[in-house]
Amino acid sequence: MFFHLLGLTLLEIKSALDDPKNALSSWQEFDETPCRWTGIACHPGDDQRVRLINLPYMQLEGILSPSIGKLSGLQRLALHENSLHGTIPNELANCSDLRALYLRGNFFQGGIPSNIGNLSSLNILDLSGNSLKGAIPSSIGRLSQLQILNLTTNFFSGEIPDIGVLSTFSKYSFEGNSDLCGRQIEKPCRTSLGFPVVLPHAESDQAAVPAKRSSRYMKVLLIYAIALMGVALVMVLSFLWTRLITKKERAAKRYTEVKKQVHPIASAKFITFRGNLRYTSFQIIEKLESLNEENILGSGGYGTVYLMEMNDGGLFAVKRIDRGCEVSDQVFERELEILGRIKHINLVNMRAYCRLASSRFLIYEYVVLGSLDDALNGAIQAKNTQEIVLPNWSDRLRIALGTARGLAYLHHECSPEIVHRNIKSRNILLAECMDPHISDLGLAKLLVDEEEAHVTTVVAGTFGYLAPEFLQSGRATVKSDVYSFGVLLLELVTGKRPTDPSFVKRGLNVVGWVNALLRENKLNDVVDKRCKGVDAGTLKVILELAARCTDGNADDRPSMNEVLQLLKQEVMPLTMDFYEYDSDS
Ligand SMILES: *[C@@H]1O[C@H](CO)[C@@H](O)[C@H](O)[C@H]1NC(C)=O
Ligand SMILES: *[C@@H]1O[C@H](CO)[C@@H](O)[C@H](O)[C@H]1NC(C)=O
Ligand SMILES: *[C@@H]1O[C@H](CO)[C@@H](O)[C@H](O)[C@H]1NC(C)=O
Ligand SMILES: [Mg+2]
Repeated sequence: MFFHLLGLTLLEIKSALDDPKNALSSWQEFDETPCRWTGIACHPGDDQRVRLINLPYMQLEGILSPSIGKLSGLQRLALHENSLHGTIPNELANCSDLRALYLRGNFFQGGIPSNIGNLSSLNILDLSGNSLKGAIPSSIGRLSQLQILNLTTNFFSGEIPDIGVLSTFSKYSFEGNSDLCGRQIEKPCRTSLGFPVVLPHAESDQAAVPAKRSSRYMKVLLIYAIALMGVALVMVLSFLWTRLITKKERAAKRYTEVKKQVHPIASAKFITFRGNLRYTSFQIIEKLESLNEENILGSGGYGTVYLMEMNDGGLFAVKRIDRGCEVSDQVFERELEILGRIKHINLVNMRAYCRLASSRFLIYEYVVLGSLDDALNGAIQAKNTQEIVLPNWSDRLRIALGTARGLAYLHHECSPEIVHRNIKSRNILLAECMDPHISDLGLAKLLVDEEEAHVTTVVAGTFGYLAPEFLQSGRATVKSDVYSFGVLLLELVTGKRPTDPSFVKRGLNVVGWVNALLRENKLNDVVDKRCKGVDAGTLKVILELAARCTDGNADDRPSMNEVLQLLKQEVMPLTMDFYEYDSDS
């Protein structure tokens, strides 16, 4: 026996986390007791029972291990404002002494475990600002000690159960979930006659389309009329008719008053995608209108990108799309509502959309460093020293892993699945620590990327990132994204753009070029000579994976989930799978 059980459990939890800032460096296997580790406190006089885990604002990534259920004495679990993803484990319900659960401000997905009602001592439940979805479990109503409930800014849907302690919370516990309804938020799920209520979309500004709304109301009223006609006298009918109209109008007014943001430009439309943007539409539109050349970050595909700085220092990247003759505003805005619901740590998340007379603006979170293309081509400088920052080998592995995670999310977690269609190094943006964020998702379907169109016509015969079957048929699939990801891996290894003239001269693309060199056993010619710290083992893994991803036959390519699994196993041996530990050994 080399260590006591409690330490092992905590190390299992640690192994499921990514800890880029080494916040958990004090969690070491051979310590006498884990009770003095960062963020841990034990029950007094009992070295075998953890009382609290307190690790907020630690930039932790990864998932919350089901091993948490083994900490039966846990009273407080505070992991708020980190970057955890995955689901909230069911095993948490085993921590029957839990009083405070803070998971606010992470990227948790999936639903609230339905057995959460077992946590009968729970006082505080704060799950706000995640990507949680599904219904709110009625078992929360059983938590008679619950004093603070915060489920705001998630994707919960359906009727809020009106039972037990759940009846005592107001709309402030549920805001920012556009698909919830129920008494607590004064949003009826049905009318008194049992018809579903037609409500304006909670987060869009309906002022711009009044005609559409009134016609929808007319439809509902018409149904009422027909239903009643059969049973009621004409007198009764007309009486009911007037009553219903006034009642519904009053209700409708109340909702629009709450949600509508007032702004001075009548033709403008403003949509926020996550409820917690801390500026009014007026403040944003004012800033958008004052953007000029000095604010230009670059002219990416689809339009010009600006850096928008708010008065309090908040930063956004704004993509301005000049209104051409592509898809109509309605189609565009409907697609954006779907894209706006997506949130993941490895994606550039969209925060708002604004249509003004001249242009459409997509407002994104600002990603600090620049694109992967910039990084590989020496265009990123360190803030203090002005030295060029070139990603080393472990940075490149980190970029590969994060990009795979983001793509796997789009392909396998979103429903319907989202094909990116335009994976390339210019669309991988890097935050501090070289954390990758995929940008421009979904836009390829709606807009023409001028850059890419330009490249393919000028350098004819260059396949670039596009899979052969995509070039032939023009049909993008998840497997054509996998191909593009394979090309991206080769770009990370070679440091060369897929349109590099040295390939084109030989009549090849990067895939053909790498394959030719590998056949001749010239591994050294493949690898980017400027890249520090390349290790032969992971290099081989990446090259083999790239070869599978760029297979000419789409069916033979792995799925992004398989790619992610493999990268996790082979490239991040430190991110040990928590099932490898066995508490009995
Ligand atoms: C739940 O707690 C009991 C002890 O109270 C423990 O034996 C069991 O392994 C725990 N279950 C899980 C899934 O962690
Ligand atoms: C929750 O409570 C129910 C009954 O009260 C019990 O059957 C179930 O095993 C409990 N679940 C956990 C995870 O403790
Ligand atoms: C819920 O949390 C958000 C931040 O995530 C905060 O702004 C809000 O005031 C909280 N609401 C309640 C009712 O605690
Ligand atoms: Mg772009």
